[in-house]
Amino acid sequence: MSRPKVFVARRIPDAGLAPIAAACDVDVWPERLPPSAEVLRQRAADCDGLVSLLTDRVDAALLEAAPRLKVVSNFAVGFNNVDVPACTARGVCVGNTPGVLTDATADIAVTLLLAAARRLGESATDAREGRWITWEPLGWLGQDLGGRTLGIVGMGRIGFAAARRLHHGWGMKVLYTARADKADANEQLGATRVELDELLAASDFVSVHADLNPSTKGLFGAAQFAKMKRTAVFVNTSRGPLVDQVALAVALRNGTIFAAGLDVTDPEPLPADHELFKLPNCVIAPHIASATVETRDAMARLCANNLLAGIKGEPLPHWVNPDARARKCLSPSKRQ
Ligand code: DGY
Repeated sequence: MSRPKVFVARRIPDAGLAPIAAACDVDVWPERLPPSAEVLRQRAADCDGLVSLLTDRVDAALLEAAPRLKVVSNFAVGFNNVDVPACTARGVCVGNTPGVLTDATADIAVTLLLAAARRLGESATDAREGRWITWEPLGWLGQDLGGRTLGIVGMGRIGFAAARRLHHGWGMKVLYTARADKADANEQLGATRVELDELLAASDFVSVHADLNPSTKGLFGAAQFAKMKRTAVFVNTSRGPLVDQVALAVALRNGTIFAAGLDVTDPEPLPADHELFKLPNCVIAPHIASATVETRDAMARLCANNLLAGIKGEPLPHWVNPDARARKCLSPSKRQ
């Protein structure tokens, strides 16, 4: 019997690649940059499974070109690069990697928050470039964290993990937005659910953890920055398109808010001559939230488990569209 065919759209850690290669014929895209949409269609054309990254668009055109595809295993918790309804319509299972990158991402949210609040990017650059001429009583003054108010926009797993660190570590009071009250956050962190406008007005630090979807695209624009405190620090580790970057640059330049820390931008990579890179009060990391050895290994293992389950016609451990279940992706004995 021929082995299933899989296209892996970039080299992922061996912790995931090895089990896939043991069970399937694998074609791994060898380049540092992603395959173009056309190349992705060609390479996936005769495949049963696809490992995609957040830089690969999985859309109807790709699915048309790959009629045998049973499963798309996205090497990320976010899956805004995948047209899930189009996959579901064709009975293609979609998997993602939640949970395993929660701590690493929360760590980067806190890192950026501290770096922006304490002007680390600006002061480290000044030191490196010869502008550290003495110890100055009024030099590089930032914002304290202790006892201040943290606003978490999107109290999911990662928002909770960031809030837990900042509440227990720095005694921060926590406000959050969510569709419904989160008992864990209320009970363990003494957190309070509020409307976005109230959160923006009351918070000293605003950290964004909401998914990117049509209702959150452009959520932060000039009106939202205007509602924030002039001393506020804004952090985004979710997805770049939640933020109107022109409005953010204006708010940072005019002192409408104090500083920003971004792990995500729109586009990615952000061009090196972008306005935001010129602002000393904006710290930008190249989407590294999940970039630890242990976390990427765990993502790779989960990604492989999702892929192999989909290929075998079994339920995916982390299944984005279980409504595809009744369709061609599950073997008849596994359909409920
Ligand atoms: C994700 O998984 O969605 C992150 O943004 C990348 O690790």
